[in-house]
Amino acid sequence: MSQYNIAVLVGSLRRDSFNAKFAKAIEKLAPAEFTFKHSQIGDLPLYNQDDDANQVESVKRLKAEIKAAQGLLFVTPEYNRSIPGVLKNAIDNASRPYGQSAFAGKPAGVIGVSVGAIGTALAQQHLRNILAYLDVATLGQPEGFIQAKEGLFDADGGIGAGRRQFLTDWMGRYVAFVKKHAG
Ligand code: FNR
Repeated sequence: MSQYNIAVLVGSLRRDSFNAKFAKAIEKLAPAEFTFKHSQIGDLPLYNQDDDANQVESVKRLKAEIKAAQGLLFVTPEYNRSIPGVLKNAIDNASRPYGQSAFAGKPAGVIGVSVGAIGTALAQQHLRNILAYLDVATLGQPEGFIQAKEGLFDADGGIGAGRRQFLTDWMGRYVAFVKKHAG
């Protein structure tokens, strides 16, 4: 059985982040051959093109994790109708120097949780735009616009009954998408 390593980028540094918890919860819906590792992005420097020739260890670490992964999973809140700066900063760091992006050719899932009714729809659309430029293929359907409300999680930190079927289907499609791209 092949093993698929997935690098997870969560767009929130908040200790009790819904998105970090949600990422862990949907990971439980994947088959055992999928292993998820959350990449740390909170310790990256603010991207500065002057540093391209001399990237620091935290940037090298992130790039190595992305390169080693068979797929990416972006789980992000929406900040002011876009993605949080911390996630954009991580993407900028890992995409450079020019010609040495860690991202090219990786398949990705994009999903997110917000307290607002549109469930990160606009952030996800912005993220898809960025990823298209970076030659990252994203799962188009189903879209997962998740609102953080009572019952989203069960008592064990899994997905609650109300969204479990939808998210099980979402994960099934994501798994198939990664496998297809991995060849
Ligand atoms: C938000 N929030 C938010 N929600 C939304 O649906 N659309 C938005 O544009 C914004 N904008 C926004 C900006 C900033 C700076 C903050 C701090 C928050 C609310 C957001 O959905 C909520 O704080 C989530 O709990 C953030 O996700 P985590 O940190 O729980 O993963």
